[in-house]
Amino acid sequence: MDHFSLIDGELHVENVPLARIAEAVGTPVYVYSTATFQRHARVFRDGLKDVPRTHLAFAVKANPNLAVLRLLANEGFGADVVSGGELERALAGGMAAKDIVFSGVGKTRAELAQGLDVGIGQFNLELEEEGVVLAQLAAARGIRAPATLRVNPDVDAGTHEKISTGKAENKFGLPISEARAIFDRLAPLPGLDLRGIAVHIGSQLSSLDPLEKAFSRLGDLIAELRAAGHSITHVDLGGGLGVPYRASDNPPSPAEFGAMVARVTRDWDVELMFEPGRVISANAGVLLTQVLWVKPGVVHPYVIVDAAMNDLARVALYDAYHDFEAVRPTGAKMIANVAGPVCESSDVFAKGREIDVVAGGDLAIFRSAGAYGATMASTYNSRPLVPEVLVSGDRFEIVANRISAATIMGAETVPDWLK
Ligand code: LLP
Repeated sequence: MDHFSLIDGELHVENVPLARIAEAVGTPVYVYSTATFQRHARVFRDGLKDVPRTHLAFAVKANPNLAVLRLLANEGFGADVVSGGELERALAGGMAAKDIVFSGVGKTRAELAQGLDVGIGQFNLELEEEGVVLAQLAAARGIRAPATLRVNPDVDAGTHEKISTGKAENKFGLPISEARAIFDRLAPLPGLDLRGIAVHIGSQLSSLDPLEKAFSRLGDLIAELRAAGHSITHVDLGGGLGVPYRASDNPPSPAEFGAMVARVTRDWDVELMFEPGRVISANAGVLLTQVLWVKPGVVHPYVIVDAAMNDLARVALYDAYHDFEAVRPTGAKMIANVAGPVCESSDVFAKGREIDVVAGGDLAIFRSAGAYGATMASTYNSRPLVPEVLVSGDRFEIVANRISAATIMGAETVPDWLK
């Protein structure tokens, strides 16, 4: 459920008409709903009510806007970060260092040191050498780094290959078959508090089966590690729960996910960490755009909108589907392509789709854009960086400014020897 709905024939976010935001801020612009974020955060937590000792770390990569992080910190979320920049954001957003977990296959030495210096709660190690370096950095500071080993369970998540992470050939995690030997070698290092394992097999998962298979393999590994004398107190189950992008999508609910987790982890006796991203944020945001032209096409007309692949990259990258709806729908429909202004054939959001009838000047939205939307935007074609607005009830505020091409040019210089 979300709070983007028609009131008197006009799309609103909570109680604010989208047309009012377009007038005040211009388009394209991402618009988020506070109530929807809060609802998703609470539904996810509720789903885990039968699982003891859970910790929720929002995957910052899904939506790193500071206001969003603050909202989720207020809901009791920590953060899953994958760079020094995300770590700074999580702290600035009000997440406590102890509630931050550092994931990622290529953490630099500087980023490991940064995590140690601010005292984050957990490092998820991706390879043995990273553990050795982290142990040295921690020992030099006279501390022990809290860490888990991220294992690759070799499970097919059944999702788009570009967002699949848990197959043996993917770059993520240690082969589960080698985890025991690596644990044996890393656990004695004085700079490490190696206390558990982590997994994340992919994103936008539409079935619980691959997750259950991965978690069961972790259960076996926990038993094996304990039998070898290791103390396993923390397990990180990652993120990945899918969301509906179209009416016919029926991904597992947080309640179904929670029931499966409760069953599989019943005897684990550990602190359990979760790293949800998309399920919290995707349907809490839309990309608001204006139709520039309706250009006749050979097969279908092209609805050219002022948002483009640089603002919302998911369609060009993963053939993703985002619903397109008029802000003031008349009820009439047309078959059309929807495309942005960027000079690439992949800058097409929909092909031959039945959409609301729109004309030049009309406002429209792409739904489900609150996850992996603004955060993946670029300035390709020297387009401004898309702004973000947060709505709460009948208020709204710009929570990220539009960054102009001129501002971006300000970071560039022409060497004297060219002048
Ligand atoms: N934890 C780890 C270690 C991850 O790599 C990810 C996502 C998450 C948690 C959060 O997963 P979620 O709950 O959001 O599925 N840009 C792509 C998605 C990339 C996901 C990368 N990792 C997209 O737009 O579909």
